[in-house]
Amino acid sequence: MGIWSGRFSKEINSIANEFNSSIGVDHVMFAQDIQGSIAHVQMLGRLEIIPQEDAEVIERGLKGILEDIQSGELEIDLGAEDIHMFVEQVLTQRIGEPGKKLHTGRSRNDQVVTDLRLYLREQTDEIFHRLLALLETLLSRSEEFAGQIMPGYTHLQPAQPVTFGHYLLAYVQMLLRDADRLLDYRRRMNECPLGAGALATTTYPIDRHLTAGLLEFTRPMRNSMDAVSDRDFVIELEFVISMCMMHLSRLSEEIILFSTQEFSFIELDDSFSTGSSIMPQKKNPDMAELTRGKTGTVIGYLMGMLTTMKGLPLAYNKDMQEDKKAVFDAVDTMKKILVIFDGMLGTMRVDRIRMREQAKYGYINATDLADYLAQKGMAFRDAYVIVGNIVRDAVEKRVSLEELPLDYYQSYTQLFGADLYPYLELEAAVQRRKVFGGPSEESIRRQIIESKEDLRRFREQLLEMGGNMD
Ligand code: ARG
Repeated sequence: MGIWSGRFSKEINSIANEFNSSIGVDHVMFAQDIQGSIAHVQMLGRLEIIPQEDAEVIERGLKGILEDIQSGELEIDLGAEDIHMFVEQVLTQRIGEPGKKLHTGRSRNDQVVTDLRLYLREQTDEIFHRLLALLETLLSRSEEFAGQIMPGYTHLQPAQPVTFGHYLLAYVQMLLRDADRLLDYRRRMNECPLGAGALATTTYPIDRHLTAGLLEFTRPMRNSMDAVSDRDFVIELEFVISMCMMHLSRLSEEIILFSTQEFSFIELDDSFSTGSSIMPQKKNPDMAELTRGKTGTVIGYLMGMLTTMKGLPLAYNKDMQEDKKAVFDAVDTMKKILVIFDGMLGTMRVDRIRMREQAKYGYINATDLADYLAQKGMAFRDAYVIVGNIVRDAVEKRVSLEELPLDYYQSYTQLFGADLYPYLELEAAVQRRKVFGGPSEESIRRQIIESKEDLRRFREQLLEMGGNMD
């Protein structure tokens, strides 16, 4: 009947028991559970809430359990209710009487969120480092293709010339915001619920500041009822991951599109592609497709947890046990995707010639032609109408703007001169966009410098927060 045999006179129904159990999911937090218990018991000993000798025996026992789980000597019993019960049971089996004192002044309600915060804090640091590694790769590829002309699109219709470097740097900015959000999240979540007890703390004179410090939290959570019932830190991480995956899902869509026969801008390395079981010629971008697909799953986790929480009264309710499975999967998925993207983008081949060729079609220098007339004194709106007519003619004749003769241009206005041809060059069109944030070489160089500066600053911030730096 286990530890509540005092109150109960009957064993729990076996299906109910299985339904109630969470160890299949929460066993991954065994190290954090032991870490939290060690801090708790050190505090109990130092304050003489339990005898110091007992605290030492318990601490040694806990360390032994940790080692034995890590070495594989002790197998986690998936028949236990959860990891917290399992560790406590093994402890008492191993050290006897003192083991029963571990849970003094503590509840599983504060214990579970302490463990989960410790676990997610570690995962956040890992995600952060993988995200920064991907950013480094993207930045170096941006440098490589800083001058590579490509058609920029709106509505997926050719719009204006940009460079492939500029395009990649757009994703760099998205991912930099994600890294910043991750740090912001880490700062906010790093508070300690331990000592909140079941909901109302405890009558023992525990020191919550001491345990918070031992576990490297910035401070104990201010309100015990909030401490045990808050799951913002789960939802927020799911949001940050959802946002980052949404960005990578958009990039995935373009990887899929740009590697089609029709675009042929890029080719993925074989090591990040898959074949078909029937069509021998196929090379499919499954990594990008799965990322796009899993983004839907992860956004679902975010919605799921918000929905689980929205009707819960204070304080702990067992509904909250549903928090872990989803966020663990979100974290695992994110970590894998970041590594895959790093490899996939690092090895991706770009067909420079094809990309440059494609930029010739679609009249993406039409805006420049209107700007040319405006620069010679015509109102932009009038220039816009004339160029519209010219483009219509060119489409009909199936020629590019550069291929129309000067006397044709001059039949519209004498403002056109032979200098319009160099003006229409896509390289020149890109270089003229020197505005801050634009695609010119100068602007791209600046984007790269500032983005690298962000990376440096983010690393510093993690260090200041006491984050794991390797
Ligand atoms: N397995 C539980 C969870 O994950 C631990 C907390 C249980 N607390 C309780 N009062 N039953 O939420």
